[in-house]
Amino acid sequence: MRDSGNSRPAVIEVERLNVWLGRVHVLKDIRGLAIPKNSVFAIMGPSGSGKTTLLKTFNRIIELSKEARVEGKVTLDGEDIFSMDPVVLRRRVGMVFQQPNPFPHMSIYDNIAYALKAHGIVKDKSRLREVVGSVLEQVGLWDEVKYRLNSPAGKLSGGQQQRLVIARALALRPEVLLMDEPTSMVDVVNATRIERLIIELSKDITIVLVTHNPQQARRVANYVAFLYNGRLIEWGPTEEVFTSPSHRLTEMYVVGKI
Ligand SMILES: Nc1ncnc2c1ncn2[C@@H]1O[C@H](COP(=O)(O)OP(=O)(O)O)[C@@H](O)[C@H]1O
Ligand SMILES: [Mg+2]
Repeated sequence: MRDSGNSRPAVIEVERLNVWLGRVHVLKDIRGLAIPKNSVFAIMGPSGSGKTTLLKTFNRIIELSKEARVEGKVTLDGEDIFSMDPVVLRRRVGMVFQQPNPFPHMSIYDNIAYALKAHGIVKDKSRLREVVGSVLEQVGLWDEVKYRLNSPAGKLSGGQQQRLVIARALALRPEVLLMDEPTSMVDVVNATRIERLIIELSKDITIVLVTHNPQQARRVANYVAFLYNGRLIEWGPTEEVFTSPSHRLTEMYVVGKI
């Protein structure tokens, strides 16, 4: 594996990770992966290469599917995630999915307030309003929704819904935010706003961004990993991987031949 520059300490580290879904060996001996803190770390690779599975392993959502079997080591700030309380882990490592998933019948306000109350983070009403306002502001949604906070989240456009669920995730103050192709179902304008937001957020938290679009990885990521057929082919600083990949497969992928 390439030297990542050692400028930032790792927040997530992976060793000898294998994941099976039923009989399918989906992730094959992923090792030497160290995601630097306060960076945008993109995981790219063709469809079916195991990107979503890897992301779901990082907050153990993978364990919600009965046929999943996970072996190996993943640490968060040096602590083994498999010995952590999954609820605590998922608060520290938030997730945003490809398909925006707000509670559609719940109000815009309650989509965020509910998460804060459920985790017992904020109980006081005025403090709740403050936090909801500030995360909506952070994702650039406040001005668009401030006069209709009580209308159902399902009435927002797809791109607005995606920014709402990002706000919901941020309200829990995660250290790491996992994002699985967050712009693939939204319009170009919203996709651009989300890309800008990702860069902005990485000043304070670590973003692990799954994308099947190498150009997006190049635009927003500080580091990039290339996954192919369940294997980690290589990872490193974005420009190095794009301009001098150490593996033939990576080279073919970044020029669009895979
Ligand atoms: N529930 C499942 N049972 C068996 N195989 C699965 C299941 N879900 C996904 N897979 C397989 O795991 C591989 C990786 O899937 P996934 O992580 O979703 O890839 P990606 O996100 O890169 O497209 C694919 O080959 C897919 O067919
Ligand atoms: Mg996927």
